[in-house]
Order: sequence, then C-alpha cells, then structure tokens
Amino acid sequence: MTMGGIRAAVAGLAGQWVVVCGASKGIGRALVLALAASGANVVAVARSAPALADVAAEARRVAPGPPPLASIVTVVADLADEDAVARLMAVELPPIVGPAGVRMLILNHVAGWWQHWLAGPDGSHVARLAAAQGAGVDGVRVTPTLRALFAVNFDSYVAIATHAMGLLLAAGDAGSRAQLVVVSSVAGKIGLPKVPPYAAAKHALHGFFESLRHELDMTGAPLGITMAMLGNIDTAANRTNTAGEVAHLPYASPHDAAAAIIAAAASGTESVTFPWAQIQPVIWLDMLIPRLARTIIQRATYGPGSFVPSPTSIALPSPDVMLGADRPKPDHPQTVLT
Ligand SMILES: NC(=O)c1ccc[n+]([C@@H]2O[C@H](COP(=O)([O-])OP(=O)(O)OC[C@H]3O[C@@H](n4cnc5c(N)ncnc54)[C@H](OP(=O)(O)O)[C@@H]3O)[C@@H](O)[C@H]2O)c1
Repeated sequence: MTMGGIRAAVAGLAGQWVVVCGASKGIGRALVLALAASGANVVAVARSAPALADVAAEARRVAPGPPPLASIVTVVADLADEDAVARLMAVELPPIVGPAGVRMLILNHVAGWWQHWLAGPDGSHVARLAAAQGAGVDGVRVTPTLRALFAVNFDSYVAIATHAMGLLLAAGDAGSRAQLVVVSSVAGKIGLPKVPPYAAAKHALHGFFESLRHELDMTGAPLGITMAMLGNIDTAANRTNTAGEVAHLPYASPHDAAAAIIAAAASGTESVTFPWAQIQPVIWLDMLIPRLARTIIQRATYGPGSFVPSPTSIALPSPDVMLGADRPKPDHPQTVLT
C-alpha cells in the first residue's frame, strides 16, 4: 500500500471504536493518543485508574473534535481476570459501541521479565524459585512462576480476543474488515537472553493467532489479524525492568512504535516489525545461521565476555507480584465514559 493509502486507512478510523489493552502507560498510552488524534473513539483498559484518567485527559486535548469523534472511555480492569473480560465484552461495551461494534482491538498489555532462568551453573535456580515463592526447596514448583506470566501475556490475549469476537465481527463487512492487533516482540520470533518465559509467551501468541488467521480466512470472516514485532522501545518499563542493561542499544520512541502499529493495522497488514532495520535482519539471520545470530545477539547485549549471573544477587519476583495480586483490585470493570 502507498503512503497515501496508509494515511487514508488511518483517517478511516475516525468515528470508529478501537479498544486498547494496557493503555495506561508506555506504548499503550502512545496508541491511545495517536488514535484519539486521528478521531477514533477509544476504549482504554488497564488496572491503574489515575494513570488512565491522565491518558484520557491528554487524549481529549489532542482529539480533533467533540463526540462522536474521539470519545474516550476508560475501563479499570485486570485483564488476566477472565470474569472481568467476559463482563466487559458482553455487558459493558455493547451499549457504548452500539451496532457498529469494535473496528480494532489492540492486545498490548504485558507482565515483564528480565532475568536469566538459571541462577548459575550449579543448580541454585531451584533455591531462587523457592525464595520467590516463599517455599522450601521441597515445596518449590516451577509452574506457578510460569503460569503467572502466561496468565497475563498469553491466556488473557486469547480470552479477550475470543470474548470480543462478536463485537469485532459486527464491525467488519465485505468491503472493510475489522482488525485484531497482537503486540509481540522480536522475542516472539527468536530466543533472546534474559527473557525465556516472556519469549515463550510471545512465541505462543504467534502460534495461536497465526492459526486463528486460517480459520478467519477459511470462514470468510471480515476480520484481519496484525502481528506487531517490536524491538527496543523507550518505555519507562523497559528502562526499569532491564536496569539499563540495554541502554547502549538504540531505542525507538513509543510514539513511533504506536504510529507503525496503527498504520499496519489500519491498512490490514498481517505482520509488521518495528524498528525494521533493528530486528528483521536478526530474525532472518537466526533462520539461516542460528549460531552466528546467537553470538551477535549475546555480544550486542553483553559485550564480548560471557555473562554468568550471581545466584545471590538476583531475586525473582513472586508469582503474586507478577500477576499484580499485591495491588488493590476492582471487583468488576469500572467503565468511565468521558
Ligand atoms: N518496550 C519495549 O522495548 C518492547 C519491546 C518489544 C515488545 N514490547 C511489547 O509492547 C507492549 C507494551 O510494552 P510497554 O513497554 O509499553 O509496557 P508497559 O509500559 O509496562 O505497559 C504495559 C501496560 O499493560 C498494563 N497491564 C499490565 N498488566 C495488566 C493487567 N493484568 N490488566 C490490565 N492491564 C495490564 C499496564 O497498566 P497497569 O499497570 O495500569 O495495569 C500498562 O498500561 C507489550 O506487549 C510488550 O511485550 C515492548
């Protein structure tokens, strides 16, 4: 598609409903602002009410005009809670979006991970998991830590997409399909240091949604899927989680990442990598000469020396912290129409 065609496709979102999951900060916040600036009506979902209120205020400031252009709805909900998701899609959203349905659903929320899986070459990783779970070494289990990450980064994506299917299919027609957008990572295509469970969940998203795309094709459903593979994006979460360890690599701005995602999705593109020059060559090299790709990735991340983490200095988050179970939760989604 030409640049003019992409601009027209993005402009075509004006007055249409778009749901952004993980909208309170980072790339999700940038997505809401870019969509509002295009005149789209946005449902912004996350757990933090104050941060969502701040995004909504900024979105109203950049929006082109009064409703029906750029209505902003904020929903405070834990997206890993399927009851909340089901209620949102079946009860809360239908009266808001009406018969036009949801033109675009962007699955973007994330629980981060930046730790080697093994604490060291001596088996002490089991003790480290035990410390994270508050368990003795005989009571420690690997799966709660994995499940907590997958609950947010994989299970909830499938649950939200499935519960939202009716609203999405209501928006699409033969001339113009609705679009489901999955925000993934270079780690959804290749392995990277310090992200094994995160990379596993992102890979799983590709397996699920690229298979789902077959079903949509074969049934002629008016719904497309965009997989967005991102590289190093300058969000506060990235800087904090990685403790500056990738600060020597080039960062792209969340606003540029959001613009690339929206342009790809609005124009029905199935797969987008951003920044392309940073990650697409590495994905191709990994397919062709994987050993060389690993060497380049490890050196780019840590320099020429090998990196062995100290078992005593690196703590794992507890499964509860990964799930956000340590923060106050709303009983049900609280929808605020502004
Ligand atoms: N930043 C990068 O370098 C980078 C690179 C590759 C891929 N990506 C992908 O880009 C996406 C966004 O990343 P980001 O850096 O912008 O992340 P971020 O700044 O940490 O934002 C994550 C968002 O998800 C929300 N969230 C987390 N758990 C939630 C839950 N259980 N229910 C509802 N909302 C939840 C957070 O809000 P609350 O805390 O208020 O709920 C926040 O709005 C992710 O899918 C990530 O994997 C990012």
